[in-house]
Amino acid sequence: MFGTVLALALFGTALVTGTQEEAFQKKCLSFKPESLVKGATRNVLEFVPAGTILSFPDNDPTCNRGSQLVSRDLCRIALNIETSGSSSITFEAWLPDDWSGRFLATGNGGIDGCIKYEDLAYGSANAFATVGANNGKNGTSGEPFFNNPGTVIDFAWRSLHTSVEAGKKLSKHFFKEDYTKSYYLGCSLGGRQGIKSAEKFPGDFDGIVAGAPAVDFNNLVSWRARFFTITGHEDSLNFIPAEAWKTWIHDEVIRQCDTLDKAADGIIEDASKCHFDPSTLLCSAGKTEKCLNMDQLQQLNTIFADYTFPSGELIFPAMQPGSEVNAIEKLYAGTPFGYSDDWFKYVVHNDPTWDASTFDLDDVRAAERLNPGDIRTYPSSLPPFERRGGKLLMYHGQQDNQITTLNTDRFFKRLQGRRSQASMDEWVRYFRISGMNHCNSGPGAWVLGQGGNAAQKGIGFDRERNVLKAMVDWVEKGVAPEFLEGTKFVTDNVELGVDFTRRHCMFPKSNVFVGNDVKDAGSWNCQ
Ligand SMILES: *[C@@H]1O[C@H](CO)[C@@H](O)[C@H](O)[C@H]1NC(C)=O
Repeated sequence: MFGTVLALALFGTALVTGTQEEAFQKKCLSFKPESLVKGATRNVLEFVPAGTILSFPDNDPTCNRGSQLVSRDLCRIALNIETSGSSSITFEAWLPDDWSGRFLATGNGGIDGCIKYEDLAYGSANAFATVGANNGKNGTSGEPFFNNPGTVIDFAWRSLHTSVEAGKKLSKHFFKEDYTKSYYLGCSLGGRQGIKSAEKFPGDFDGIVAGAPAVDFNNLVSWRARFFTITGHEDSLNFIPAEAWKTWIHDEVIRQCDTLDKAADGIIEDASKCHFDPSTLLCSAGKTEKCLNMDQLQQLNTIFADYTFPSGELIFPAMQPGSEVNAIEKLYAGTPFGYSDDWFKYVVHNDPTWDASTFDLDDVRAAERLNPGDIRTYPSSLPPFERRGGKLLMYHGQQDNQITTLNTDRFFKRLQGRRSQASMDEWVRYFRISGMNHCNSGPGAWVLGQGGNAAQKGIGFDRERNVLKAMVDWVEKGVAPEFLEGTKFVTDNVELGVDFTRRHCMFPKSNVFVGNDVKDAGSWNCQ
C-alpha cells in the first residue's frame, strides 16, 4: 500500500494496545484532509505503524531520500496544495499517535525542493504533529524557477507559511484539539526560513530553532558565486588542489589558531578570534615545497577577508579559517557553485546561458536589487515576534564550509544594535558549535538534536543535550538554555558510544580550556 514496507511487526502487545492502534488507524483512514485545505488534492493518506520503512517512489532522485524509518505509529497525510494560479507545493503532515499537543514545522536546504523526511520522522517520533513541504518545487535544480515567479515566492516564504496554516488546521481536526505550542526546526536555507517566518508571520511559531541561517540571502548567493572567480577553474595554473588545503594549509591554520582557546585539540572554539596570516606559507628560496606562490597567497588573502565594494561597504563577511577541509568539496573546488549558478541563471538574470566565470559586482547589485520573492531575510529587529513572546535560538558550526559563521555573529549584533545582552537573552540566543561543519558532522561535539540524522537517537530528548527540547522548555517552562551540550560519538557511530561532550557557549562568550582533559566537558569554561 503506497509503497509501504513493513520492516518490523510488533507482536505480543496487550489486546488493549491493539485496539487503540486499530482505532487510530481507523481514524486516520477515514480522515478527509483535502476537504479541509483550500486548493488541496490528496497524494497519500496512510496509517504507518512504528517500525515501518517508508519508501518514496515518486520523490525526485536528486533529493536522495528514497526511504525513511518511522519509529512511532502515525497517520501520514501527503497533499498537493495550490499556492497561486501557476504554483503549488507538495506537503506532508505526520500526525503521531499519543500526540504531545505540540506542532512542529521543518525546513529545507540549499535551493532544494526536498522534504526532509528524516526531520518529519524525528519530530513525529518525539510526539510533535510534524509538517514539511517541498518549498515549491521538486529536486535540487534551480531550473523550475525559470520564468516562474510564483515558485520563487513559494521558495522565499510561501511554502512554509502555507504548510503551517494547513498543518495546524489538519492537526486540530484530526485530534479534535488545538495545538498547545508551535515550533520550527531548520538549518542553512532552513535557518533562513525560520527567521523569515519570525519577520513576516510572527504568529506562526512560539519557538524557532535556526541553524547556520542563510540570512542576507542575496549577498550570500553572491559571496558563494565569487569563490569560482577567486580560485579559478580546477585546470588553471594557480589552482590550489584539495590536497594542499586539507593538509598543510589547514595545518598552518591550526598551528596559528588552535590554542587561542588554550587547548591543542585541533578544534577552534571561536573562529572569530582566528586572524589567520597565510603569508607564512609563501614560497621562497629555502621553501619550495608545501608553499604558495604570490597568486595563490592572494587567493587565500581574498577568501579570508571581508567581501566589500571598492567603497569599503560590506557585501558579506570573510570565510572563517578552519573550514577549508570541507570547503574544498564545493566552494574551493574550481567549479561554479551549483546553487549560486542556478540562482543567477534561473532567478536573477532569467538567462540559462549566464556564465559563472563572468560573475562580478554588477551581479551582486542585480541580485540585491531584485530581491526575488523578498527572500533577503536580514531584519534588524523582530518586534512583533519578540512582543508575542517568541523565542529564537540560533546555532552555527565553527567549521561551517558553506556559510561563514562570521555572518551569524554579524546578524546577532545587528539584531542587538544598542540593546543590552540581558534584553537579548530574553528572546534570542546564539550558540557557536566548535568542530561542526555545515549543520552537522565534523570533529567536534556536533550532535545536538538538530534534525533527524542517525546519531540523534543516541542523545535522547532532554534539554541538556537536545536543542529542540531546550527550545520546548524555554517556551513552556521559561527555562532558557545557558549552553548547548553537544555530543561526539566514537567515529560518529552511536553503537560505539560517546567519545566526548562539550558545552557550547552562548554568544558572545566562547570556550576556554581550564582543566586537564579536553574530552571532559567540565574542563571548559565559557568566557
Ligand atoms: C513533486 O513530487 C511529488 C511526489 O513527491 C508529486 O506528487 C508532485 O506532482 C511533484 N510536483 C511537481 C511540480 O512535479
